[in-house]
Amino acid sequence: MKIVILNGPNLNMLGRREQSYYGVKTLADIEELVVEKARDLEVETEFYQSNHEGALVDYLQALTPDVEGIVVNAGAITHYGVSLRDALIDSRLPIVEVHLSNIHAREEFRRHSVIADVAQGQIAGLGWQGYLFALEYLSTHLKQL
Ligand code: DQA
Repeated sequence: MKIVILNGPNLNMLGRREQSYYGVKTLADIEELVVEKARDLEVETEFYQSNHEGALVDYLQALTPDVEGIVVNAGAITHYGVSLRDALIDSRLPIVEVHLSNIHAREEFRRHSVIADVAQGQIAGLGWQGYLFALEYLSTHLKQL
């Protein structure tokens, strides 16, 4: 079973950007923790980050058939990215939306996600641990099917 962890714009800057919202870990640190967790759960992971919505869409369109679930932190694209939303729908895979910060406790424009209603659920405000919770959920959910 393979689960993809997709990250959108500016998440490559984690560790250096707005630490009060996003914490001190870099994306590489988080990926290492996800890989460790995946080993325990006996699932495979694949990571992709891009600052470009079209690149995220291209990546989703090229997913191999062994991918069974998606963890996505679309960054700012979350709030307006209809083409990313459409590509997520077309993947026909279970999706968990993750945000490091609590988007519901920030500016008004961050409170709306165009991905939320096509995801199984959303984890927001739990920092890097959100990625681990999302992976654990998908792994348990997919093994139950
Ligand atoms: C974010 C929240 C978004 O509003 C923001 O644009 C990000 C990060 C988060 O993880 O909290 O880039 O997705």
